Amino acid sequence: MEKLLFIDGCVSQRGPASRTRALADAFLSAFRESHPGAEVETVRLETLDLKPFLPAALDGRDALASAGAFDAPVFALARQFREADKIVAAAPFWDLSFPAAMRIYIEHISANGLTYHYESDGCHGDCRAKRLAYLTSGGDFEKPESLGVLYWKQLSAMFGVPRFDYVFAGGLDAEPARVPELMRTAEEAARRLGREF
Ligand SMILES: Cc1cc2nc3c(=O)[nH]c(=O)nc-3n(C[C@H](O)[C@H](O)[C@H](O)COP(=O)(O)O)c2cc1C
Repeated sequence: MEKLLFIDGCVSQRGPASRTRALADAFLSAFRESHPGAEVETVRLETLDLKPFLPAALDGRDALASAGAFDAPVFALARQFREADKIVAAAPFWDLSFPAAMRIYIEHISANGLTYHYESDGCHGDCRAKRLAYLTSGGDFEKPESLGVLYWKQLSAMFGVPRFDYVFAGGLDAEPARVPELMRTAEEAARRLGREF
């Protein structure tokens, strides 16, 4: 059965009214409709309570990797990410990228020898997924150099995921009166992407 991994980074003071969550819901409901046989597995960053890697934890993880012990719990999130057929990540645009909970999650999935490895010409990805999509909403309008989007685009390449797509619902705090219109357009883009994903 095809597996879609949903990385739920919709950390929001708006709770269920989160604009980022609305994008994720639009994507996921369209995906489920058009892929009735697929399984959606969710990893909710807000409840994971992950710790950033400090030197002692890195030493421990490196020792396990050197021993080939990739079945150790410290690699659980990386194994889950590596095995997904398709991946969708969602997070609000915070401080020019995304919430720190997502950055720490990225530390956990970036496991040399499991999700990527080095060769003499550089980094090569080892993940199964053929597609990754990133959904985000921001107070400001989208710019070509918007970092959350660029970050996930480059992570896709690093992990060997050939196709990257994104939806950015921008300008939501710049033009509060236009929020319904801006969200309608972005949710429709998310639905279109989910349908054909
Ligand atoms: C802590 C925090 C940091 C933010 N940083 C930015 C930012 O750097 N750029 C921006 O355009 N909007 C920023 N915003 C605004 C949010 O991106 C915007 O309101 C977004 O729609 C929130 O999504 P939500 O409704 O899912 O919570 C920030 C909001 C918060 C709470």
